[in-house]
Amino acid sequence: MAIVNITINGRNISVPAGITVLQAARQEGIDIPTLCDHPALSVVGACRMCIVEIKGQRNLQTACTFPVTDGMEIETESAEVVKARTMVLKMLFSERNHFCPFCEMSGSCELQDMGYRFGVDHWAFSTYTKNYAVDATHKHYLMDHNRCILCGRCIRACGELVANHTLGLGQRGSESMINADANLPLNESTCISCGTCVQVCPTGALFYKRSAYMGSDSEMIKVKSTCSQCSIGCGIEIITRGGNVLQIMGDWEGQANRGVLCKAGRFDPLYDGRERIPEPLHRSKDGEENISWAKAMQALAKHITKVGPDKIGVIVANRASNEALYLIKKLFIDELGVSNIKMIHTPAPRIEGKPHGTLSRIAGSDTLLVVGSDPLANQPVAAFQIKRALDKGARLIVVDDENNALSPFAHVNLKISDIGQAVEMASKSPSPVVVYGPGIPAPAVDMLKGITDRANFIAIETGVNTCTARALDVNKGFKSEAVELLLVLLGDGKCGGVELLKDIGGKTFIAVLAGYASELTDKANLVMPNAIWCERTGTLTNTEGRIQTLQSAVEPANGAKSDWEVLQMLAAKLGKKITVSADDVANTLATAV
Ligand code: SF4
Ligand code: SF4
Ligand code: SF4
Ligand code: FES
Repeated sequence: MAIVNITINGRNISVPAGITVLQAARQEGIDIPTLCDHPALSVVGACRMCIVEIKGQRNLQTACTFPVTDGMEIETESAEVVKARTMVLKMLFSERNHFCPFCEMSGSCELQDMGYRFGVDHWAFSTYTKNYAVDATHKHYLMDHNRCILCGRCIRACGELVANHTLGLGQRGSESMINADANLPLNESTCISCGTCVQVCPTGALFYKRSAYMGSDSEMIKVKSTCSQCSIGCGIEIITRGGNVLQIMGDWEGQANRGVLCKAGRFDPLYDGRERIPEPLHRSKDGEENISWAKAMQALAKHITKVGPDKIGVIVANRASNEALYLIKKLFIDELGVSNIKMIHTPAPRIEGKPHGTLSRIAGSDTLLVVGSDPLANQPVAAFQIKRALDKGARLIVVDDENNALSPFAHVNLKISDIGQAVEMASKSPSPVVVYGPGIPAPAVDMLKGITDRANFIAIETGVNTCTARALDVNKGFKSEAVELLLVLLGDGKCGGVELLKDIGGKTFIAVLAGYASELTDKANLVMPNAIWCERTGTLTNTEGRIQTLQSAVEPANGAKSDWEVLQMLAAKLGKKITVSADDVANTLATAV
């Protein structure tokens, strides 16, 4: 890599050739103010807040767009630069309505921060505001054009990160406006409610309704965790205040998602109105009573000992943590000898002998073959990556017998019976990637094996943690008939209900660990409250095999516990010395996944 020598504010520094002045300054810890710039987005140089003085240049230049060259001398805080930035800011404040005390984002706004930094505490010019429209039609967020500075971050986020291209710039000059499609209300537009545009907006022009007027950044607590809504395992930041979860933000450092989330990850958990389970409950023919955790463990241990391994059945929802799956293996399979165990979701079949890669492979592919999987419907952030590759010229072949949400974007749509054609087409391309899921039948698996050796494979699991379940061989098969004690680890997912009791005898003792009340918990003999997504701890393995951390952002309601805590208490009650640590899990999975 070629290196160039430059000076910034008199400091000699060496940086890679070709990077911008802004990137060079940031590498050296020199702060240059920005507004339209965002590290995850392309550079447009729209706001002019980042202007700097470069020796030999007639005018001040925007640091975010100007590339460094050898010998360049840059001043980022000269009197002329500060004066010009202050003028830019005064003009931004005088256009539209930036009356901070009445703005939801006051205290969390990058424009307001700049105002404080440059001492802009009043309007230098009479304001040009026409009382622009506020679009409040979207369920989850609001667009107030009066607060918009036309930085274009939202447009770039929608196009470059989500590849949805809903947002664009309409009208002209000072009347320019962020439009959804052909200037439609947001709720009638092609917006898919991922909320990414809101996350990148630097002002109060776009904000989330759920957290509106609930406090500013400095009053919020942010905890990094992992989305457990699907197998992509996107990195999230859970934003809370006073023990209430207000927002879910994408973690820009999240390896699977790099800041982007889908509606299911960003909004759905915030609007989950299901009833929580108050405390452990024991139900018998004599009635029902709330009991302590100690008594719940005693009751469960007593039944386990009474019925013996052949009459125990265990059903595990796909959101079970790695630690819980590890304990199921150690306690139920290895120690107690139980083999009647199943996961609610079955894993995708592995196409053995073929190179499997991470989702990042999608970006470098020129032909994407999607088969037995519908990521746009079920694992949207993976589909955003596919659509981004299409924007860059990749071809998409969708092979599916059902309606597939990616079909409208595909160059070729084929039935599973025609998979041979798809394999032939993909084999002709220099860098094909096959994205496949559990919906792929065995004959199609065999056909796929015939694809060129240049192909990379990415398995997309439908179950959140089926990767670990497969690695630990937890899915042993399940027969309902002989079961006299059924333990269901249901977690907080919406999957699983009374249908799980199909063919289970009326005298079977049913114990359920669940985040929410359901028909299943109404029928159970023992109900135990499970910590939900924002309360639980542990790890999950995503579809790529990455082990990701779950951190609790709020105290579990009603003394609810994480799945692995309950299993560890149960092991102790049964007199088994089995514990689990993050290292145990990581070591076991390092070889198995
Ligand atoms: S929510 Fe997502 S899809 Fe909708 S406009 Fe914003 S970035 Fe685009
Ligand atoms: S809505 Fe926000 S992100 Fe979009 S252009 Fe306006 S200020 Fe920038
Ligand atoms: S793609 Fe999956 S893991 Fe990512 S935010 Fe959406 S539901 Fe969560
Ligand atoms: S940050 Fe450089 S022009 Fe906006």
